[in-house]
Amino acid sequence: MAKKSEEEEDKEVKKRDGPQLTDLPGIGPAVAAKLEAAGIFDLMSLAVMSTSTMADKAGVGEAVARKAIQAARKMLDLGFIDGTEFEKRREDIMNITTGSVSLNNLLGGRGIETKSITEAYGAFGSGKTQLGLTLAVRVQLPVENGGANGKCVFIDTEGTFRPSRIKQIAEGIGANPEKVLKNIFVARAFNSDHQILLLEKISEMITNGEPIKLLIVDSLTAHFRAEFTGRGELADRQHKLNKYLHSLMSLCEKHNIAIYVTNQVMANPAQMFGDPTTAVGGNIVGHASTYRMYLRRGKQGSRVAKLIDSPNLPDNECVFFVTEKGVVDEI
Ligand code: GTP
Ligand code: MG
Repeated sequence: MAKKSEEEEDKEVKKRDGPQLTDLPGIGPAVAAKLEAAGIFDLMSLAVMSTSTMADKAGVGEAVARKAIQAARKMLDLGFIDGTEFEKRREDIMNITTGSVSLNNLLGGRGIETKSITEAYGAFGSGKTQLGLTLAVRVQLPVENGGANGKCVFIDTEGTFRPSRIKQIAEGIGANPEKVLKNIFVARAFNSDHQILLLEKISEMITNGEPIKLLIVDSLTAHFRAEFTGRGELADRQHKLNKYLHSLMSLCEKHNIAIYVTNQVMANPAQMFGDPTTAVGGNIVGHASTYRMYLRRGKQGSRVAKLIDSPNLPDNECVFFVTEKGVVDEI
């Protein structure tokens, strides 16, 4: 079979990702491009806009804007569900302990949770990967011991996965190192397209009965950041990253799994006070992550985690340590 042209592949990706901006009445490619340039890539962002803002950003009349917004809302089924239905959807949520009670508490009491994306961003050596490796081991514990009695998928974009470290952490908490290692599926993602493709594979594995309860992407943004470096490429990068995050969100909702992603920081020279670093990917990643933590080194070998912009928890800080047992409360 002849190789598909890029255009064809693009179309297929679009079909897979559901309705696009151009599927809305009155929105052709030119208007869609204007919206994208203003940071609006998907129906959800458009559905929550006011008519006048949309008209302004897209350069269309208010009537066209109103029609498009209404259509987007309809397509997304932005209705209400009653409280009991909402409660039911949250009923099967499971938690995975981080290994540290104070870090668990920071995240609402029982560690990271399924149907959510938890993001840790911070400088190199701040403990992002170590927390990931700890979670990869602890997800396998029985529920009564803070696990989810499940397996883990580790998408490694930087070649930092260390089997020996997994075994050490497993041994440290009294688990069988070989068994624990066998329950972690590792895939090295060589570029962002590969990273995206791997999600389909995970869905397939779960459908085929693998009891996967945790997906780790370490790092979420490194490939995207390295591949889109030129001026004017930022919008393309954000678009692709946004799509990827949406796929992650539907994956964790659909299969009731927890997702833990790591993210780098970049210097923010505009910030004059406090820590002048911000997470790569900015608001797009921030909005997609249910829990977002900033990790940094603290005093005497400790690590400090700060919860940022959580919808239902207070912004707070806690201290933990990284030892041979992985993440713990104290040394
Ligand atoms: P980047 O991926 O470079 O951005 O950093 P990161 O945030 O992922 O850092 P990582 O989680 O790899 O943390 C590395 C740090 O964890 C090391 O500098 C050590 O301080 C600590 N660490 C790693 N392995 C061990 C270990 O076996 N024992 C102890 N005590 N500490 C360890
Ligand atoms: Mg790392």
